[in-house]
Amino acid sequence: MLSWDDYNEETTTAAPPPPPSAPVREAAPAAPVAVEAPAGPAAPAAAAPEAPAPAAPPVLAEETDIGAPADNLQAAQRALAQLGDGTQGGGESVERVTVGAKRMINARADLNQLVPFKYDWAWQKYIDGCANHWMPQEVNMNADIALWKSEDGLTPDERMIVKRNLGFFSTADSLVANNLVLAIYRLITNPECRQYLLRQAFEEAIHTHAYQYCVESLGMDEGEIFNMYHEVPSVARKASWGLSYTRAISDPTFSTGTAETDRELLRNLIAFYCVLEGIFFYCGFTQILSMGRRNKMTGTAEQFQYILRDESMHVNFGIDVINQIKIENPHLWDAQTQQEAIQMILEGTQLEIEYARDTMPRGVLGMNASMMEEYLKFIANRRLAQIGLPEQFPGVANPFPWMSEIMDLKKEKNFFETRVTEYQVGGALSWD
Ligand SMILES: [Fe+2]
Ligand SMILES: [Fe+2]
Repeated sequence: MLSWDDYNEETTTAAPPPPPSAPVREAAPAAPVAVEAPAGPAAPAAAAPEAPAPAAPPVLAEETDIGAPADNLQAAQRALAQLGDGTQGGGESVERVTVGAKRMINARADLNQLVPFKYDWAWQKYIDGCANHWMPQEVNMNADIALWKSEDGLTPDERMIVKRNLGFFSTADSLVANNLVLAIYRLITNPECRQYLLRQAFEEAIHTHAYQYCVESLGMDEGEIFNMYHEVPSVARKASWGLSYTRAISDPTFSTGTAETDRELLRNLIAFYCVLEGIFFYCGFTQILSMGRRNKMTGTAEQFQYILRDESMHVNFGIDVINQIKIENPHLWDAQTQQEAIQMILEGTQLEIEYARDTMPRGVLGMNASMMEEYLKFIANRRLAQIGLPEQFPGVANPFPWMSEIMDLKKEKNFFETRVTEYQVGGALSWD
């Protein structure tokens, strides 16, 4: 909560004016002292032992590096004169944006003008994502801490499930965030979608924060958890698979505009939205939420439930993006691309089945690896259907209908199935 008192406080306790520049430059010999002291800024300056002072700022090698104030002002004025009156756009388009000029990829319309809207579904998801805002510290972790530290609170299999999932998710959400910010964002060329991508990127940061918060609360070995994506094969194989699809398009020199590069982006979107967020998360979500339903690790389960609510929207946004790109660029969605997309989803499903077997060598929490296999095939069928591809696992059923209730499939429907009108607006989650 903001208070004007905070601002008054800041004003009254403002730091004293800095000393004149000459004495600062004379303080140059103090720098090595600060470097030697491991405590860095907290280390008292050698010359003033009675008054701890902050470490000396970097000192300029030559006084002449900075010009005189009058010269600096003239240089700034010369630079501003180059701008002209600003209406030339500095190389960007200065035409007013029309709906017809907006496109998902390869648009030339000005990306700094949010309106007029063309992709209302993306804007609506941004609004809905903001309405669902939450923070990890709001969740009470006390019961989890007591259970995790007790000798016989959880079985060894249950403990492994908690650790493996924190290990997988803690880095998977960073992979997703980096892919969003360093690869996808630049290549999606309309501001409504970019607005949602910014919201999603922040949500991914919150998710990584949530996993870190669980790891810290439970007193786990951070090095073990955060390195699982390098060290535990069932986790590492999923991460490597995702990374292989981000490599090409996160290259700063990569650009769309040819059929092949446009398809490369499409493959990335399928890999990250349909497989990584759409399949790879589902074994772990089911395991942790099953724990919560059994009144175990309820704080961790509540964090995962908030995350699942966000992820359902991420997947639906990604599917809408993929389908809209297909509509605008039908030549990209040829038989070969469809075949590739099917194979990617099958590969992802297989990796997640391996993860299920690794994390559930025996039955646990009322489920086992073969039930999870069926569930993952059910999810894979859904992802395929959502991007207009034939289901690959005929006859599979959902062995965990309670998962659908938690996600509320009415909300999970994407734009191309129905207009979404039923979003939760903030508020507490319920296990009912
Ligand atoms: Fe996430
Ligand atoms: Fe996500």
